[in-house]
Amino acid sequence: MIDLHAKPIAITGASSGIGRATASACAQAGMYVAVMARRRDMLDELVDEIRGEGGRAIAFAGSVDDPDACARFIEASERELGPTHAVFANAGFGSYKTVLASSEAELRRMFEVNFWGSLNVINPALPGMLERGRGHVLMCSSCLSKLGVPFHAAYCATKACQDMFGRAMRHELSPRGVHVSTVHPIGTRTDFRDTARAHSGSTPAMDEQTQGPFVQPAETVADAVVRCLRQPRGEVWTSLSVRLAMAVALACPGLADWGLGRMARKKFERGDVQ
Ligand SMILES: NC(=O)c1ccc[n+]([C@@H]2O[C@H](COP(=O)([O-])OP(=O)(O)OC[C@H]3O[C@@H](n4cnc5c(N)ncnc54)[C@H](OP(=O)(O)O)[C@@H]3O)[C@@H](O)[C@H]2O)c1
Repeated sequence: MIDLHAKPIAITGASSGIGRATASACAQAGMYVAVMARRRDMLDELVDEIRGEGGRAIAFAGSVDDPDACARFIEASERELGPTHAVFANAGFGSYKTVLASSEAELRRMFEVNFWGSLNVINPALPGMLERGRGHVLMCSSCLSKLGVPFHAAYCATKACQDMFGRAMRHELSPRGVHVSTVHPIGTRTDFRDTARAHSGSTPAMDEQTQGPFVQPAETVADAVVRCLRQPRGEVWTSLSVRLAMAVALACPGLADWGLGRMARKKFERGDVQ
């Protein structure tokens, strides 16, 4: 078990949702927290809340698709809070569109934020971790990293990239004392769907996904991340049934394609997607 007390963690995408909940949970566990996102006011509110409860935190406004901003974020975190113990590359967004309806610029943008944005913040933290022979890199991937789901093609691809990179990096870095974990949330009640709607237009199908047994609060993911920080493991899952369903889908691609094809046809018939 790792004692998290006074250990600094840098978290991207912490102005809302999973990142915000994780920053609060890490602060409650005694960690020093550096948070990054584009909406400065929401970061400041979070930092005030953490400081009000006796914790240490700093905010840094910037976009994860800018490698220089990410490097400055890690620099600011180390200057104010000390050597980085962990990085949680969490910033990301989704959309709900067919591949045909998505422009090349939209597809590239999703990779720039979800995938390259993760590496942009991990890379400047790694040299120090390797020098110290300890550290923890986490990426917020998704349960959809294991399956190409219709209308989420680019999103699933970016999440699979994080998953594959994370898995390979784990074996490259663990002999040098740095843990690498990927986090695979299921549907989580955050601003994610509003942002996806803003990128995709109105999609009634997205509203269906905000309720039901396969939707969890952001705090469930945050608690799982803190457990992983205490006791590092490769993959963090927050639903055993979804994890098993993904394992079956991987083992039986024909069966998975049959189900996904049926779902896609229904959505086309209802006019749910562009
Ligand atoms: N919600 C789900 O159902 C679900 C399921 C599986 C995985 N995930 C993953 O969980 C992660 C967090 O999403 P969430 O559900 O918590 O959604 P959210 O509430 O919309 O949070 C997304 C966060 O990412 C930040 N962000 C987006 N683009 C950014 C950029 N270019 N630079 C810096 N920050 C940026 C946003 O902040 P600003 O807008 O202030 O920049 C926000 O803080 C994502 O990687 C997502 O793929 C979510």
